[in-house]
Amino acid sequence: MKELNIGICGLGTVGSGVFDVLSSNSRIMFEKSSCEINIVHIATRSDNHSCDVGDIQYSKDVFQVAKDPNVDLVVELIGGTDVAFELVMLAISNKKHVVTANKALIAEFGSIILEAAMKADVNVAFEASVAGGIPVLKGIREGLVANKINWLAGIINGTTNFILSEMSVRKTPFEVILAEAQSKGYAEADPTFDVEGIDASQKLAILASLSFGIPLSVSEFFVEGITSILLEDVSFAKELGFTIKHIGICREINGRLEARVHPALIPDSSLLAHVNGVSNAVMVNSDAVDTTLFYGPGAGSKATASSVIADIIDVAKSRESACFSSLGYPIDRLKRKDIMNIEDIECGFYIRFVALDKAGVLSEITTIMANASVSIESIIQRDHVSKIDHVNVVIITSKIKHSTLDPVVKKIKKLKNVVDEIVLIRVEHLDQ
Ligand code: HSE
Repeated sequence: MKELNIGICGLGTVGSGVFDVLSSNSRIMFEKSSCEINIVHIATRSDNHSCDVGDIQYSKDVFQVAKDPNVDLVVELIGGTDVAFELVMLAISNKKHVVTANKALIAEFGSIILEAAMKADVNVAFEASVAGGIPVLKGIREGLVANKINWLAGIINGTTNFILSEMSVRKTPFEVILAEAQSKGYAEADPTFDVEGIDASQKLAILASLSFGIPLSVSEFFVEGITSILLEDVSFAKELGFTIKHIGICREINGRLEARVHPALIPDSSLLAHVNGVSNAVMVNSDAVDTTLFYGPGAGSKATASSVIADIIDVAKSRESACFSSLGYPIDRLKRKDIMNIEDIECGFYIRFVALDKAGVLSEITTIMANASVSIESIIQRDHVSKIDHVNVVIITSKIKHSTLDPVVKKIKKLKNVVDEIVLIRVEHLDQ
């Protein structure tokens, strides 16, 4: 039997889930793993929780947990990057293992933290930091260890997926659904982290490091959120056989990496197009197994606790062996790869603009596109709902670099028969 004494810092949504699941499922966990996990210390900065901590040592100061000689492993669930970083570094310097659900902490400071952990010969594990309850890091690191990863693409932010799904089904605008997501507790404390793509970019940084052996960093990734997605674009996409999703993509091409987070039209035939609500899904394409899909709840108290506890059990099982790297690749063997500029990445584009309903307008536009060798896959024209004598023109292009399309869009914008802004959204045929 292996025994591990843990200290939990933070009893918010995830912390209370960890406390509850550890309490209710300790027997089944022991039967499966032969590990006994004892909560010996809990620290929360606020008393606003519903856990019955009984006679477990209780502190208001999270640093007391990292200093407690009875604690073997610190569970960091306080969030943020300031106190959390100090706490984790203190725990490591006191030779304690760490489990965290904090994607911002790992994406921004993971390299420093993992290097310190390697030197101190302790483990830092963070399964819950990406896609909540889905064991996707373990799946890639261990299940796909035999494979070279070609690309991965995922819906890794539940809030944006909930908003886009509801916009599509209920035909309700972005602002209304965002307010609902906040009231249901899906969104981060600051929802701009979700809707501007920051949360997803941090998760993609972790997935990219683990899949392609690059150092943890978001700095070179292209990041775009969903705040400018309009209801009419969701509807036109549907009409053309696509669903708009907010996705993170990382793909290796000739030793260089595409790493980007943005909204995209996904063909309705793709599995990712059917991932709705707050669910997350990560599609991974690798050389031996081809494409796998990891799907499930990307957030939630007990779902995220499930991943936190899986990490705790991994640490308990490996205590007598050498420390492991949660990235799979040893931290001192991560190598920087060139991240491609978004302008040089090829994909399809959805282009929508409002034009005057006059003879010759469409031919003017298609001539500009043909002259620039931009190939059109589909084109539709629909009466504008509120502007008489105006039409919405929607075009889907074949794969093209943004740098090639940009001058074309600028020319179309200058035409006197084209009014308003031009909407541009990427189109991804993920299985090609
Ligand atoms: N706000 C996050 C999401 C929660 O919507 O996915 C989990 O990281």
